[in-house]
Amino acid sequence: MEWTREERYRRLEDVDKEDYQKLIEQVEKSTYRQTFHIQPKTGLLNDPNGFSYYQERYHLFYQWFPLGPVHGVKYWYHVSSKDLVTWRDEGLALEPDSFYDSHGVFSGSGLVVDDKLHLFYTGNTRTKDWIRIPYQCHAVMNQHGNIRKSKLPLISDSPKGFTDNFRDPKAFEYQGQYICLIGSETTDHRGKIVYYKSEDLVNWDYKGTIKTSNYSNSGDVWECPDYFEQDGQGVLLFSPQGMVAEDENYRNIFQSGYLMGKPIDFGTGQFDHQSFKEFDRGFDFYAPQTMEDHLGRRLLIGWMGLPGVDCVTDRDGWAHCLTLPRELIVENGHLYQRPVKELEGLRKSHSHCSGVLNDEMLTLDETYRTYELRISLTVDDLKYFAITLREGNGEKTIFSYDYIKERLQLDLTDAGETVTADYGRTRSCHFQSDRLDIHLFMDESSLEIFINDGFEVFTSRIYSQIEANNIHIESKGSTAYELDLWKI
Ligand code: FRU
Repeated sequence: MEWTREERYRRLEDVDKEDYQKLIEQVEKSTYRQTFHIQPKTGLLNDPNGFSYYQERYHLFYQWFPLGPVHGVKYWYHVSSKDLVTWRDEGLALEPDSFYDSHGVFSGSGLVVDDKLHLFYTGNTRTKDWIRIPYQCHAVMNQHGNIRKSKLPLISDSPKGFTDNFRDPKAFEYQGQYICLIGSETTDHRGKIVYYKSEDLVNWDYKGTIKTSNYSNSGDVWECPDYFEQDGQGVLLFSPQGMVAEDENYRNIFQSGYLMGKPIDFGTGQFDHQSFKEFDRGFDFYAPQTMEDHLGRRLLIGWMGLPGVDCVTDRDGWAHCLTLPRELIVENGHLYQRPVKELEGLRKSHSHCSGVLNDEMLTLDETYRTYELRISLTVDDLKYFAITLREGNGEKTIFSYDYIKERLQLDLTDAGETVTADYGRTRSCHFQSDRLDIHLFMDESSLEIFINDGFEVFTSRIYSQIEANNIHIESKGSTAYELDLWKI
């Protein structure tokens, strides 16, 4: 179904309560509803926003168009949690109701200062002639959860040399000053991150671009910037659009990744970094956001979806979900993503098995629909290892390690329904190690696979039949294994 512009820009209050109730019921009947991931109650969810820790709770907002599975006029929806496992529904947070955000409350960040949660976001507006004017806006949430928008935007329009693709403010404190990064596109169509400085969170001075090296295939629009330092390294995160696929890299419609190097010099903007690396090797990952929590951990949540592609559940009136929360660790110049420890709280019944697998295939006795699974292998005499998930009725999802070709691969060729087959059904990456630890989370319609403590991650939605739940493991050559399976 094609959505007209008029339909996309309808707000919640413009629809009949009964019609909206019908949409809620339609979504509730969807067979692919998740059980332990954040998902929209109706309509479309995209980027995580305002991820922060305030008043002893984690706060998380997300981009939301309530009325259907399309990118219409966006709201911020709010959830909060004490433990990153159970999320409390806090309802609507920011609505597109001001002159500076009339066509969407776009993405942004949260920052706690003086016991208030400051929210920074892009107000998307359109003139009568549909010319876009972006504003960078501000709101404050107090300890009672009341949110007040500032009367005026902080930054109006984009600076000279940049197009209207100018958005997603990420504000943070850095050496006694506030810095705000903004994703952008230059008028000659290069993706860049620009930055502003402030002493009071109200007045922001434009400082120019972060001076990254001019590498080729860098894309034309950089969205959702973020930055942190760990282990002496500066890590600049963003989601570039317009990169071209190269071998097994950049296979999704758009990418999401980071540049790592010497900490950014926020005096000059200089950033000396290594080459661009993708965050994730799977099919569905975009626009992640990080925060440092009260325990000093750097946490990340991403959107398990991508702009510009359809979703299998569109026909059920909803689309997309967020990833599980992950802890980021920089070690020996590599960025690891690990599922947060708190997720152990999801574990229900447990089974364990171990042994030696020698040129054979083994079917697990136990199987569930949604689960956490961990398998550790010694790779000594192993040539190939595969784990087949969600197998049955002609469907299967295969994750494998080819020790000879040094490749990890996720194969969704027969995984079930898809609407994005144009982008291929396999994803792979180079990998070489003398041990293999596969740690994965299977929800109703998603799979997140963490390899060797998050050295590589594959994040994907999968839409398989309810009866297809067998799990097999298979080796060529021999390997000792330890396997743990927890029902979730
Ligand atoms: C990324 C993005 C952001 C924008 C938001 C709008 O997915 O395009 O750049 O703020 O989505 O929903």
